[in-house]
Amino acid sequence: MPLDALQDKIARLKKECRAIILAHNYQPEEIQDCADYIGDSFELSRIAADSDAAVIVFCGVHFMAESAAILAPGKTVLLPELAAGCPLADMISPEELREFKQKHPGAAVAAYINSSAAVKAESDVCVTSANAVEVINSLQEERVIFVPDCNLADFVSKHTTKEIIPWQGYCITHHRVYPEDIQKARRLHPQAIVIVHPECRPEVVALADYALGTGGMIRFVRETEHQEIIVGTELGMIYRLRKECPDKKFYLLSTGLVCPNMKYTTLEKVVWSLENMEHKIAVAPEIAEKAARALQRMLDVPVH
Ligand code: 13P
Repeated sequence: MPLDALQDKIARLKKECRAIILAHNYQPEEIQDCADYIGDSFELSRIAADSDAAVIVFCGVHFMAESAAILAPGKTVLLPELAAGCPLADMISPEELREFKQKHPGAAVAAYINSSAAVKAESDVCVTSANAVEVINSLQEERVIFVPDCNLADFVSKHTTKEIIPWQGYCITHHRVYPEDIQKARRLHPQAIVIVHPECRPEVVALADYALGTGGMIRFVRETEHQEIIVGTELGMIYRLRKECPDKKFYLLSTGLVCPNMKYTTLEKVVWSLENMEHKIAVAPEIAEKAARALQRMLDVPVH
């Protein structure tokens, strides 16, 4: 079906179903273009929690749709492609977290939002890349277990006085970036400033000018006087940033920065999803209730 026919169909179905489309910043261009809201994990959680739509089509990966389902009980949350998972989120199970907690009694547990609902349910609070430092600093405990991303844990440990006890998970896409990629990109674009996601390795973050979540990157490029920016996060951000600041130049830090799971979503699948009300993402009530507490505690922390 031609692009404009697909777009028209989605617009019509959205109206009929009282649906909104939320798309993560890493989504393919045509998905970003048809979304009602595009954002980072934190912004999309907030929108899901506040939305009065009957149906939320989540164009992202499974844990994001799960968080929306937890924060928007009573609404139908659809993930157009069930195979869109997050290898990082899969790097810790609730059983593993329970065992880890026993080894570190008295420590608070912070779960990166890139985790399953069952892991969130075992945690005291959630964090995203937009608020991790503020949320950790808001905890009373001086020792904090941080799961599952060891790179974000390292970033937080450098910006807090608390002891961070990391789980050794990582994002396979960001972990593929090495210091040599920054050196090479700087040689190719000597005028450019380098921003990277804190899911990158510590030695990559150390060589960058700034480490920011995707929402922070958007605010940064709007405000900076720099005209050329090397971007160390997933490819979808390049489209998003070019739309925000068409006069600036953006370069992807490494060609490996493509998350295959984020690319599963297509317009055809969004149409199918709305026509069939599939794939419904639901979380068992006893898990949802506990996970909601950890997510809500995060949403309640003021972030500047
Ligand atoms: P943001 O919350 O910064 O958008 O990051 C989400 C993510 O999954 C990064 O890989």
